Amino acid sequence: MRIILIGYGVVGQGLTNILLRRRLENLKEYGFNPKIVAIVDRGGAAINPKGLNLEKMLALKKRNGTVAADREFGHAQMSPLAAIESVEAEVMIEATSTNVKNGEPGLSHIKTAFKTGKHVVTTNKGPLALALPALMELADYNKVYLRFSGTVGGGTPVLELAKKCLAGDKIVAIRGILNGTTNYILTEMAEKRITFQQALDSTQKLGYAETDPSMDVDGIDPACKVVIMANWIMNKKLTLKDIKVKGIRDVTLQALEEAAKRGNTIKLIGSIDDSAKVAPTEISKHNPLCVSGVLNAVTFVSEFAGEETIIGRGAGGMETASAVLRDLLDIRHNLASKMLT
Ligand SMILES: NC(=O)c1ccc[n+]([C@@H]2O[C@H](COP(=O)([O-])OP(=O)(O)OC[C@H]3O[C@@H](n4cnc5c(N)ncnc54)[C@H](OP(=O)(O)O)[C@@H]3O)[C@@H](O)[C@H]2O)c1
Repeated sequence: MRIILIGYGVVGQGLTNILLRRRLENLKEYGFNPKIVAIVDRGGAAINPKGLNLEKMLALKKRNGTVAADREFGHAQMSPLAAIESVEAEVMIEATSTNVKNGEPGLSHIKTAFKTGKHVVTTNKGPLALALPALMELADYNKVYLRFSGTVGGGTPVLELAKKCLAGDKIVAIRGILNGTTNYILTEMAEKRITFQQALDSTQKLGYAETDPSMDVDGIDPACKVVIMANWIMNKKLTLKDIKVKGIRDVTLQALEEAAKRGNTIKLIGSIDDSAKVAPTEISKHNPLCVSGVLNAVTFVSEFAGEETIIGRGAGGMETASAVLRDLLDIRHNLASKMLT
């Protein structure tokens, strides 16, 4: 499998680290020997049709800030689109920064990969939140796979549990804590009896929240994940504009203390049943969804199996990169099964 990797930040570098560390096991256990033939960042590209030396790429990125600095294989200022169009590969991995205004540049990278017959694995939620129904159709039309396990739950196999382990049953509702930063803030507020602003400040100091925390605290990040689950698991053709979103800025310490008197707490819950929304919601402290700190938790309500809850770390470079590796193995498995039939 030849791979083009677009975006070489925390996730992209995490993936090359995992590929280096798991090379022998991947080969032995799955017969899987992926070759990264191109890596692109903002400085340009490194391209080697025979497979790039990943140790060298990691060192180059650290030392020079861009993989395009490679003397032998570097192409300064080469754009991701030029690389996707000109380099022969089976898969394109999209790991550039999320943009929920117009999905770019990830959206164009994904569409161009499809048009040039490449399967896509993305960790970038922006294009999916804005256009997942259309992208799923476009992938079908071009007879390629689109996978995005790392977009929901980081390394925790949230999408796979619903899609694979609960296959055959019908999932009628989903509820979940889909954002670690807001869960950490609400946990801090409840446990330390501090205000939203105090909790946000300490969360930013710890590096769990961005300088501009609006994607998290205004509920946009969990809303993107609601869109992805609604389409992929429940076959609802929704995009971000269809989700009712309320973040946690207005959750007060007083409201948390009153909920606590009833044996409850307040969590930012994303839910999909007849409608799809994200909102601060009072839940029992005994509810399996009631996890603390940066953990994520998702409950699937299915017609026959009942309620299943999966809990895990929702983000992290290595965790998300491990989801990318699962997607690559899934694509490879699907391609191999097709060859058998
Ligand atoms: N980190 C996580 O825990 C996590 C978890 C789940 C999903 N995600 C998603 O995965 C994606 C990658 O995350 P990350 O943490 O790896 O982000 P990151 O560290 O900021 O890396 C982003 C990478 O994209 C490159 N890039 C951005 N715009 C580009 C453009 N126009 N052309 C070429 N390269 C471009 C950047 O290039 P430079 O290196 O040159 O700046 C950088 O290498 C994001 O969409 C994020 O939301 C991340």
